[in-house]
Amino acid sequence: MNPLAIAPSILSADFAKLGEEVKAIAEAGADWVHVDVMDGHFVPNITIGPAIVAALRPHTSLCFDVHLMIAPCDPYLAAFAEAGADLISVHAEAGPHLHRSLQAIKALGKQAGVVLNPATPVAHVAHVLDLVDLVLVMSVNPGFGGQAFIPSAIGKVAELRQLIGERPIRIEVDGGINPETARQVVEAGADTLVAGSAVFKGGPDHYRTNIANIRAGA
Ligand code: DX5
Ligand code: ZN
Repeated sequence: MNPLAIAPSILSADFAKLGEEVKAIAEAGADWVHVDVMDGHFVPNITIGPAIVAALRPHTSLCFDVHLMIAPCDPYLAAFAEAGADLISVHAEAGPHLHRSLQAIKALGKQAGVVLNPATPVAHVAHVLDLVDLVLVMSVNPGFGGQAFIPSAIGKVAELRQLIGERPIRIEVDGGINPETARQVVEAGADTLVAGSAVFKGGPDHYRTNIANIRAGA
């Protein structure tokens, strides 16, 4: 099993101070930085583009875990790779050709992830596992931070852990993660946890404790 990684989602950070926020979570014990990219089409919100990822890159050496909630995604993969993404995840539902998108990410020399929405069965990733470094299980419908955890994600993580077997693929969970839900998904087999509101609540003075509490829960 991979060591646990906590990936704060900067969707819940102060967007007017993103550089400082990224530094602050790195100093507070974050393992990765989760970047939520939304296009107002695949999901009903608009957030961060490659220019912002590039602007943040000099502020930390932590892994940039870029979660693309955009369709189509293929035309933008190179831009996010050049901007400094380390791992690029695309939704299985985004289309048109998931296998091709993952091949393109690997060809750019980046780690590749595939994301499953709450309604998408685990079987949808069975034929791309040879191409991915990570499978991300959404435990909310994508688009916004601060939503309630959908409990059926726990069973999906367990099912995915079975399907993955001995392959060195991470299982990440995103949405409604707090110390209690962290424990539930880690018990089921997750090793990478995204948390937005549970990390950023209370402001910078609380980031260290908030991250430590999630780690302790897990
Ligand atoms: C939702 C995003 C999540 C979100 C998590 O579309 O993918 O990363 O920011 O936020 P919390 O932890 O507040 O549910
Ligand atoms: Zn996300």
